[in-house]
Amino acid sequence: MALVTLNQLFAADYAGAICGFDFVNLETAKAIIAGAEELGAPVILMVTEGGVKYAGLEYITAIGKIAAEKGRVPVALHLDHCTNFQLLIQAIKSGFTSVMIDASHLPFAENLKLTKEVVRVAHAAGVSVEAELGRIGGKEDNIQVNTAEAFMTDPDEAVEFVTATKVDCLAVAVGTSHGIYKGEPSLNLALLQKLQSVLDIPLVLHGGSGLPDAMVKKVVEIGVRKFNVWTELAVAHTATIRALLKEQPELYDPRHLLKPALEAMKEVVKSKILLTQAGH
Ligand code: 13P
Repeated sequence: MALVTLNQLFAADYAGAICGFDFVNLETAKAIIAGAEELGAPVILMVTEGGVKYAGLEYITAIGKIAAEKGRVPVALHLDHCTNFQLLIQAIKSGFTSVMIDASHLPFAENLKLTKEVVRVAHAAGVSVEAELGRIGGKEDNIQVNTAEAFMTDPDEAVEFVTATKVDCLAVAVGTSHGIYKGEPSLNLALLQKLQSVLDIPLVLHGGSGLPDAMVKKVVEIGVRKFNVWTELAVAHTATIRALLKEQPELYDPRHLLKPALEAMKEVVKSKILLTQAGH
């Protein structure tokens, strides 16, 4: 299928949240599409700035586009957590159908100004925009936010921000963090509920790895429409290869390691999609 925008995915008749998975290479992209296809669910293929740096924009865009074209489910190609305006423009020109401007490290007025500019440029190209307000903790590639720097999204600011920027969806900080949780995650569900009630655009939850199933179901029930996952894919990938090499140290063909890793990632993809479908 041809790539669709994030807005088209949100507008389609799909109950629950749509999962966004980061991919860094062919295997991660194939695992995401295969998992989504097996369940007939739409999916968001996401690339971080770190992913672009690792694979190169041309390679990673080509992989994303081909995966989407060959896939039998609707797919959006999304630039995740971009802090670099130039890269964002390059991604739009290359064919990304959705971008996230992450200016959450800037003061409110500057985040608003930059996000508004990104929305102007992206919308002119028919591309959807996600922004972040509040600051999500943890580590994702080049972005490291420690506990003291992380802060939750303020509902009044969120209304002002969304009204002024006309952003298509908003990543909110309600207690999730990127990477592996230390201890049980604690979410402010009352805040999420409040944000859901005052905003009329889809809410995005980052830091989906490691959240207990019941919590995932709860946030979807409250109304989260985009649910981001990366770390669990990476862990499944590497744990599979580690175990294989332990059992069969004589293996040397990368395909004998990467194919089982792909299968393990596909299972993670399927489990997250099932969990975030409404009614599960
Ligand atoms: P995790 O790596 O914690 O799953 O977070 C992924 C994410 O939020 C991508 O933007």
